[in-house]
Amino acid sequence: MKKGCFITIEGVEGVGKSTNIAAIESLLRAEGIPFISTREPGGTPLSEKIRALLLDKNETAMHDKAELLLVFAARAQHVEALIKPALEKGQWVICDRFTDSSFAYQGFGRQSDISLIERVEKLALGDFVPDITFLLDLPVEIGLARASKRGELDRFESEDLEFFNRVRDGFLIRAKADRTIIIDAGGSLAEIEKQIAIHIQARIKSWR
Ligand code: TYD
Repeated sequence: MKKGCFITIEGVEGVGKSTNIAAIESLLRAEGIPFISTREPGGTPLSEKIRALLLDKNETAMHDKAELLLVFAARAQHVEALIKPALEKGQWVICDRFTDSSFAYQGFGRQSDISLIERVEKLALGDFVPDITFLLDLPVEIGLARASKRGELDRFESEDLEFFNRVRDGFLIRAKADRTIIIDAGGSLAEIEKQIAIHIQARIKSWR
């Protein structure tokens, strides 16, 4: 059985991850590719409980190290209990955020030590990485303005502009990995979908 393809979608708040995930889902459905869709932090019952802790804005005393370890604890459970088994069964996995978000938010946003994050990544995941990552990139002000219309802000969304500018820079630095495709999320939706579809179609072709 051929293993599935692991796709992740990354970017700062409000860049349009959800809309583009829906577009990828429609494409895979139309092509008859078996897939599951999931998200981080979260994706399994235990990981969703950790997500609630991470996003709770009443958790004002969470230390950066505790935040980092919680993010990776949620991810270790998610990868072992859901993502790897699905890939082994030949299903594709679409994941809203993954480890790049930890480097961007915890590493660049919170300014935690990058080599510490690399060590935690190794401990939690070994060499497990996505096959393809779409980084939706947009000036932070535009994304945050969109995100703020969605209602009450969570613990991360309550951070300031400087934090999110560091996060965006972090994503762009991480995007040097071969697996990452940077998408200008400021373009028209049709154009963005078209660009993503070209890459997905190429993957489907080589996978079949
Ligand atoms: P998400 O549900 O994608 O929020 P939104 O839809 O508002 O973009 O992600 C939840 C938050 O968790 C988001 O603010 C980023 C943060 N996060 C981290 O700080 N580190 C991580 O490793 C992950 C996966 C998410």
